[in-house]
Amino acid sequence: DRSELERQFEDTIGRDQRIEPRDWMPDGYRSTLVRQIAQHAHSEIIGMQPEANWITRAPSLRRKAILLAKVQDEAGHGLYLYSATESLGADRSELTGKLISGKQKYSSIFNYPTLTFADVGVIGWLVDGAAICNQVPLCRCSYGPYARAMIRICKEESFHQRQGYELLMTMMHGTQGQRRMVQEATDRWWWPSLMMFGPPDADSPNTAQSMAWKIKRHTNDELRQRFVDMTVPQAEALGVTLPDPHLRWNAERGRYDFGEIDWTEFTAVIKGNGPCNAQRVAQRRRAHEEGSWVREAAAAHAEKQRALRQV
Ligand code: ACO
Repeated sequence: DRSELERQFEDTIGRDQRIEPRDWMPDGYRSTLVRQIAQHAHSEIIGMQPEANWITRAPSLRRKAILLAKVQDEAGHGLYLYSATESLGADRSELTGKLISGKQKYSSIFNYPTLTFADVGVIGWLVDGAAICNQVPLCRCSYGPYARAMIRICKEESFHQRQGYELLMTMMHGTQGQRRMVQEATDRWWWPSLMMFGPPDADSPNTAQSMAWKIKRHTNDELRQRFVDMTVPQAEALGVTLPDPHLRWNAERGRYDFGEIDWTEFTAVIKGNGPCNAQRVAQRRRAHEEGSWVREAAAAHAEKQRALRQV
Protein backbone atom coordinates (compact mmCIF):
# COMPACT_ATOMS: atom_id res chain seq x y z
CA ASP A 1 0.00 0.00 0.00
CA ARG A 2 0.88 3.67 -0.26
CA SER A 3 2.39 4.13 3.19
CA GLU A 4 4.66 1.14 2.58
CA LEU A 5 5.75 2.65 -0.77
CA GLU A 6 6.40 5.98 0.93
CA ARG A 7 8.43 4.26 3.63
CA GLN A 8 10.54 2.47 1.02
CA PHE A 9 11.12 5.72 -0.84
CA GLU A 10 12.17 7.57 2.34
CA ASP A 11 14.36 4.64 3.23
CA THR A 12 16.16 4.70 -0.12
CA ILE A 13 16.75 8.45 0.24
CA GLY A 14 17.86 8.01 3.85
CA ARG A 15 20.41 5.37 2.87
CA ASP A 16 21.78 7.67 0.12
CA GLN A 17 20.75 5.20 -2.54
CA ARG A 18 19.29 6.10 -5.91
CA ILE A 19 15.69 6.36 -7.01
CA GLU A 20 15.31 4.83 -10.47
CA PRO A 21 12.62 5.47 -13.12
CA ARG A 22 10.50 2.42 -12.27
CA ASP A 23 10.56 3.01 -8.52
CA TRP A 24 7.56 4.53 -6.80
CA MET A 25 8.08 8.23 -6.00
CA PRO A 26 5.88 11.00 -4.58
CA ASP A 27 4.24 13.24 -7.20
CA GLY A 28 6.06 16.27 -5.78
CA TYR A 29 9.44 14.57 -6.15
CA ARG A 30 8.66 13.76 -9.77
CA SER A 31 7.39 17.25 -10.63
CA THR A 32 10.31 18.97 -8.87
CA LEU A 33 12.75 16.90 -10.90
CA VAL A 34 10.93 17.53 -14.17
CA ARG A 35 10.92 21.28 -13.39
CA GLN A 36 14.60 21.45 -12.49
CA ILE A 37 15.91 19.10 -15.18
CA ALA A 38 13.80 20.75 -17.90
CA GLN A 39 15.06 24.19 -16.89
CA HIS A 40 18.55 22.82 -16.90
CA ALA A 41 18.08 21.29 -20.38
CA HIS A 42 16.58 24.52 -21.71
CA SER A 43 19.58 26.43 -20.30
CA GLU A 44 22.01 24.22 -22.18
CA ILE A 45 20.10 24.69 -25.43
CA ILE A 46 19.55 28.46 -25.09
CA GLY A 47 23.13 28.72 -23.83
CA MET A 48 24.36 27.75 -27.29
CA GLN A 49 23.24 31.11 -28.67
CA PRO A 50 25.46 33.70 -26.95
CA GLU A 51 28.63 31.86 -27.93
CA ALA A 52 27.44 30.72 -31.36
CA ASN A 53 27.33 34.45 -32.06
CA TRP A 54 31.15 34.31 -32.31
CA ILE A 55 31.69 31.13 -34.35
CA THR A 56 31.87 32.94 -37.69
CA ARG A 57 34.12 35.63 -36.25
CA ALA A 58 36.54 33.59 -34.12
CA PRO A 59 40.01 35.09 -34.55
CA SER A 60 41.75 31.88 -35.73
CA LEU A 61 40.95 28.42 -37.08
CA ARG A 62 42.04 26.93 -33.74
CA ARG A 63 39.69 29.15 -31.74
CA LYS A 64 36.88 28.42 -34.17
CA ALA A 65 37.33 24.63 -33.90
CA ILE A 66 37.35 24.86 -30.08
CA LEU A 67 34.26 27.05 -30.00
CA LEU A 68 32.35 24.81 -32.42
CA ALA A 69 33.16 21.75 -30.31
CA LYS A 70 32.09 23.54 -27.14
CA VAL A 71 28.75 24.66 -28.55
CA GLN A 72 28.12 21.11 -29.80
CA ASP A 73 28.82 19.79 -26.29
CA GLU A 74 26.07 22.08 -24.97
CA ALA A 75 23.62 20.54 -27.44
CA GLY A 76 24.63 17.09 -26.18
CA HIS A 77 24.06 18.16 -22.56
CA GLY A 78 20.60 19.39 -23.47
CA LEU A 79 19.82 16.03 -25.06
CA TYR A 80 20.95 13.91 -22.10
CA LEU A 81 18.90 16.12 -19.81
CA TYR A 82 15.75 15.96 -21.93
CA SER A 83 16.21 12.16 -21.90
CA ALA A 84 16.38 12.26 -18.10
CA THR A 85 13.02 14.11 -18.02
CA GLU A 86 11.55 11.46 -20.34
CA SER A 87 12.52 8.78 -17.81
CA LEU A 88 10.11 10.63 -15.47
CA GLY A 89 7.28 10.54 -17.98
CA ALA A 90 7.74 14.04 -19.43
CA ASP A 91 7.33 14.64 -23.14
CA ARG A 92 10.24 16.40 -24.82
CA SER A 93 8.19 18.21 -27.43
CA GLU A 94 5.85 19.50 -24.73
CA LEU A 95 8.84 20.83 -22.79
CA THR A 96 10.16 22.59 -25.88
CA GLY A 97 6.68 24.05 -26.38
CA LYS A 98 6.79 25.42 -22.83
CA LEU A 99 10.21 26.94 -23.43
CA ILE A 100 9.29 28.73 -26.65
CA SER A 101 6.00 29.97 -25.25
CA GLY A 102 7.80 31.41 -22.20
CA LYS A 103 6.05 29.08 -19.72
CA GLN A 104 9.24 27.45 -18.49
CA LYS A 105 12.40 29.15 -17.32
CA TYR A 106 16.01 28.78 -18.37
CA SER A 107 19.06 30.24 -16.67
CA SER A 108 19.10 34.02 -16.29
CA ILE A 109 22.73 34.12 -17.41
CA PHE A 110 21.97 33.47 -21.08
CA ASN A 111 19.99 36.69 -21.41
CA TYR A 112 23.09 38.88 -21.59
CA PRO A 113 24.81 39.81 -24.85
CA THR A 114 28.28 38.68 -25.98
CA LEU A 115 29.82 41.95 -27.15
CA THR A 116 33.45 40.95 -27.82
CA PHE A 117 35.50 37.78 -28.26
CA ALA A 118 36.70 38.17 -24.67
CA ASP A 119 33.13 37.27 -23.66
CA VAL A 120 33.74 33.76 -25.01
CA GLY A 121 36.64 33.41 -22.59
CA VAL A 122 34.77 34.96 -19.67
CA ILE A 123 31.76 32.68 -20.25
CA GLY A 124 34.08 29.68 -20.07
CA TRP A 125 35.83 30.98 -16.97
CA LEU A 126 32.94 32.43 -14.93
CA VAL A 127 29.72 30.97 -16.34
CA ASP A 128 31.04 27.43 -16.80
CA GLY A 129 32.95 27.80 -13.51
CA ALA A 130 29.68 28.64 -11.74
CA ALA A 131 27.92 25.81 -13.59
CA ILE A 132 30.54 23.32 -12.32
CA CYS A 133 30.18 24.56 -8.74
CA ASN A 134 26.42 24.09 -8.97
CA GLN A 135 26.52 20.80 -10.89
CA VAL A 136 29.25 18.71 -9.26
CA PRO A 137 26.99 18.10 -6.22
CA LEU A 138 24.19 17.11 -8.63
CA CYS A 139 26.29 14.04 -9.54
CA ARG A 140 25.10 12.84 -6.09
CA CYS A 141 21.46 13.71 -6.74
CA SER A 142 19.08 11.04 -5.46
CA TYR A 143 17.52 10.51 -8.91
CA GLY A 144 19.74 8.05 -10.82
CA PRO A 145 19.36 9.19 -14.45
CA TYR A 146 19.99 12.86 -13.55
CA ALA A 147 22.99 12.04 -11.37
CA ARG A 148 24.54 9.87 -14.08
CA ALA A 149 23.97 12.48 -16.80
CA MET A 150 25.72 15.04 -14.60
CA ILE A 151 28.93 13.02 -14.42
CA ARG A 152 29.66 13.35 -18.11
CA ILE A 153 28.33 16.89 -18.24
CA CYS A 154 30.65 17.98 -15.44
CA LYS A 155 33.68 16.46 -17.16
CA GLU A 156 32.88 18.43 -20.29
CA GLU A 157 32.12 21.60 -18.31
CA SER A 158 35.55 21.37 -16.67
CA PHE A 159 37.13 21.27 -20.10
CA HIS A 160 35.03 24.31 -21.13
CA GLN A 161 36.14 26.20 -18.05
CA ARG A 162 39.79 25.49 -18.79
CA GLN A 163 39.45 26.59 -22.42
CA GLY A 164 37.91 29.88 -21.28
CA TYR A 165 40.68 30.49 -18.77
CA GLU A 166 43.37 29.64 -21.31
CA LEU A 167 41.79 32.00 -23.85
CA LEU A 168 41.77 34.82 -21.28
CA MET A 169 45.34 34.10 -20.20
CA THR A 170 46.40 34.37 -23.84
CA MET A 171 44.60 37.70 -24.22
CA MET A 172 46.10 39.01 -20.97
CA HIS A 173 49.54 38.34 -22.45
CA GLY A 174 48.54 40.27 -25.58
CA THR A 175 48.08 43.96 -26.23
CA GLN A 176 46.78 46.69 -23.95
CA GLY A 177 43.55 46.63 -25.97
CA GLN A 178 43.11 42.88 -25.42
CA ARG A 179 43.63 43.26 -21.68
CA ARG A 180 41.01 46.01 -21.65
CA MET A 181 38.56 43.71 -23.45
CA VAL A 182 39.06 40.99 -20.83
CA GLN A 183 38.55 43.43 -17.95
CA GLU A 184 35.48 44.91 -19.54
CA ALA A 185 33.93 41.46 -20.18
CA THR A 186 34.71 40.46 -16.57
CA ASP A 187 32.96 43.62 -15.35
CA ARG A 188 29.83 42.74 -17.31
CA TRP A 189 29.63 39.02 -16.45
CA TRP A 190 30.67 38.92 -12.77
CA TRP A 191 27.37 39.89 -11.14
CA PRO A 192 25.14 37.90 -13.52
CA SER A 193 27.36 34.84 -12.79
CA LEU A 194 26.64 35.19 -9.06
CA MET A 195 22.92 35.33 -9.89
CA MET A 196 23.11 31.92 -11.59
CA PHE A 197 22.98 30.25 -8.17
CA GLY A 198 19.44 31.50 -7.67
CA PRO A 199 17.79 33.69 -5.04
CA PRO A 200 19.21 34.00 -1.51
CA ASP A 201 18.30 31.05 0.72
CA ALA A 202 15.68 33.08 2.60
CA ASP A 203 13.83 33.72 -0.71
CA SER A 204 14.30 30.29 -2.28
CA PRO A 205 10.95 28.48 -2.11
CA ASN A 206 12.27 25.13 -3.39
CA THR A 207 15.54 24.60 -1.52
CA ALA A 208 14.33 23.04 1.76
CA GLN A 209 12.22 20.32 0.12
CA SER A 210 14.79 19.65 -2.62
CA MET A 211 17.49 19.19 0.02
CA ALA A 212 15.30 16.88 2.08
CA TRP A 213 14.85 14.77 -1.06
CA LYS A 214 18.60 15.00 -1.79
CA ILE A 215 17.96 16.49 -5.21
CA LYS A 216 19.95 19.54 -4.14
CA ARG A 217 22.90 18.87 -1.82
CA HIS A 218 23.73 22.47 -0.88
CA THR A 219 21.79 25.72 -0.66
CA ASN A 220 22.05 28.49 -3.26
CA ASP A 221 24.05 30.75 -0.91
CA GLU A 222 26.49 27.96 0.04
CA LEU A 223 27.32 27.29 -3.60
CA ARG A 224 27.57 30.99 -4.43
CA GLN A 225 30.09 31.45 -1.60
CA ARG A 226 32.07 28.44 -2.79
CA PHE A 227 32.22 29.96 -6.27
CA VAL A 228 33.45 33.33 -4.99
CA ASP A 229 36.16 31.65 -2.89
CA MET A 230 37.32 29.59 -5.84
CA THR A 231 37.28 32.47 -8.34
CA VAL A 232 39.07 35.28 -6.49
CA PRO A 233 42.52 33.62 -6.70
CA GLN A 234 41.90 32.83 -10.38
CA ALA A 235 41.16 36.52 -11.05
CA GLU A 236 44.40 37.42 -9.27
CA ALA A 237 46.38 34.95 -11.36
CA LEU A 238 44.83 36.38 -14.52
CA GLY A 239 45.45 39.95 -13.47
CA VAL A 240 41.85 41.16 -13.70
CA THR A 241 39.85 43.01 -11.06
CA LEU A 242 36.45 41.68 -9.98
CA PRO A 243 34.02 44.63 -10.01
CA ASP A 244 33.07 44.57 -6.32
CA PRO A 245 34.57 47.10 -3.87
CA HIS A 246 33.28 45.01 -0.94
CA LEU A 247 35.15 41.87 -1.96
CA ARG A 248 37.69 41.06 0.75
CA TRP A 249 39.13 38.10 2.63
CA ASN A 250 37.46 37.51 5.97
CA ALA A 251 40.02 35.68 8.10
CA GLU A 252 37.49 34.91 10.80
CA ARG A 253 35.13 33.13 8.43
CA GLY A 254 37.96 31.81 6.28
CA ARG A 255 35.97 32.96 3.23
CA TYR A 256 35.61 36.04 1.06
CA ASP A 257 33.00 38.65 1.92
CA PHE A 258 31.29 40.17 -1.08
CA GLY A 259 28.83 42.95 -1.94
CA GLU A 260 25.06 42.90 -2.28
CA ILE A 261 23.64 41.38 -5.48
CA ASP A 262 21.09 43.47 -7.39
CA TRP A 263 18.09 41.17 -6.94
CA THR A 264 15.77 43.54 -8.81
CA GLU A 265 17.86 42.91 -11.91
CA PHE A 266 17.66 39.13 -11.31
CA THR A 267 13.88 39.27 -10.93
CA ALA A 268 13.51 41.34 -14.08
CA VAL A 269 15.65 38.90 -16.07
CA ILE A 270 13.79 35.78 -14.94
CA LYS A 271 10.48 37.50 -15.69
CA GLY A 272 11.59 37.87 -19.30
CA ASN A 273 12.85 41.45 -19.21
CA GLY A 274 16.61 40.94 -19.45
CA PRO A 275 18.62 42.48 -22.30
CA CYS A 276 18.28 39.46 -24.65
CA ASN A 277 15.28 37.38 -23.44
CA ALA A 278 13.04 38.18 -26.40
CA GLN A 279 15.81 37.56 -28.91
CA ARG A 280 16.86 34.23 -27.32
CA VAL A 281 13.33 32.81 -27.25
CA ALA A 282 12.52 34.10 -30.76
CA GLN A 283 15.68 32.46 -32.11
CA ARG A 284 14.81 29.15 -30.40
CA ARG A 285 11.27 29.31 -31.78
CA ARG A 286 12.56 30.01 -35.29
CA ALA A 287 15.02 27.09 -35.11
CA HIS A 288 12.23 24.80 -33.88
CA GLU A 289 9.90 25.81 -36.71
CA GLU A 290 12.59 25.58 -39.36
CA GLY A 291 13.53 22.13 -38.04
CA SER A 292 10.03 20.70 -38.32
CA TRP A 293 10.82 18.96 -41.65
CA VAL A 294 13.69 17.07 -39.96
CA ARG A 295 11.39 15.80 -37.21
CA GLU A 296 8.74 14.84 -39.78
CA ALA A 297 11.31 13.02 -41.92
CA ALA A 298 12.70 11.17 -38.89
CA ALA A 299 9.21 10.10 -37.82
CA ALA A 300 8.35 8.95 -41.38
CA HIS A 301 11.60 6.97 -41.53
CA ALA A 302 10.93 5.32 -38.16
CA GLU A 303 7.44 4.42 -39.30
CA LYS A 304 8.78 2.87 -42.50
CA GLN A 305 11.35 0.82 -40.57
CA ARG A 306 8.64 -0.40 -38.22
CA ALA A 307 6.43 -1.45 -41.17
CA LEU A 308 9.36 -3.27 -42.80
CA ARG A 309 10.07 -5.21 -39.62
CA GLN A 310 6.46 -6.41 -39.50
CA VAL A 311 6.55 -7.92 -42.99
N1 ACO B 1 17.82 31.73 -13.69
C1 ACO B 1 16.51 31.51 -13.90
N2 ACO B 1 15.68 31.05 -12.96
C2 ACO B 1 16.20 30.81 -11.74
C3 ACO B 1 17.55 31.01 -11.44
C4 ACO B 1 18.38 31.50 -12.47
N3 ACO B 1 19.67 31.74 -12.28
N4 ACO B 1 17.76 30.68 -10.15
C5 ACO B 1 16.57 30.30 -9.64
N5 ACO B 1 15.63 30.39 -10.60
C6 ACO B 1 14.21 30.11 -10.45
C7 ACO B 1 13.95 28.69 -10.05
O1 ACO B 1 13.93 27.84 -11.17
C8 ACO B 1 12.62 28.80 -9.37
O2 ACO B 1 11.61 28.94 -10.36
P1 ACO B 1 10.28 28.03 -10.43
O3 ACO B 1 9.91 27.70 -9.02
O4 ACO B 1 9.30 28.86 -11.17
O5 ACO B 1 10.67 26.83 -11.18
C9 ACO B 1 12.72 30.13 -8.67
O6 ACO B 1 13.71 30.87 -9.39
C10 ACO B 1 13.07 30.05 -7.20
O7 ACO B 1 14.40 29.53 -7.03
P2 ACO B 1 14.76 28.30 -6.08
O8 ACO B 1 13.66 28.02 -5.12
O9 ACO B 1 16.10 28.55 -5.50
O10 ACO B 1 14.79 27.14 -7.18
P3 ACO B 1 15.64 25.79 -7.25
O11 ACO B 1 15.59 25.05 -5.96
O12 ACO B 1 15.21 25.07 -8.47
O13 ACO B 1 17.16 26.29 -7.40
C11 ACO B 1 18.84 26.26 -9.15
C12 ACO B 1 17.60 26.95 -8.56
C13 ACO B 1 19.98 26.39 -8.14
C14 ACO B 1 19.21 26.96 -10.45
C15 ACO B 1 18.51 24.76 -9.36
O14 ACO B 1 17.34 24.63 -10.12
C16 ACO B 1 19.60 23.99 -10.04
O15 ACO B 1 20.59 23.66 -9.43
N6 ACO B 1 19.40 23.64 -11.33
C17 ACO B 1 20.30 22.81 -12.10
C18 ACO B 1 21.40 23.57 -12.72
C19 ACO B 1 20.97 24.48 -13.83
O16 ACO B 1 19.83 24.56 -14.23
N7 ACO B 1 21.90 25.18 -14.41
C20 ACO B 1 21.61 25.99 -15.59
C21 ACO B 1 22.65 26.97 -15.86
S1 ACO B 1 24.24 26.33 -16.09
C22 ACO B 1 24.43 25.85 -17.69
O17 ACO B 1 23.53 25.45 -18.32
C23 ACO B 1 25.77 25.97 -18.31
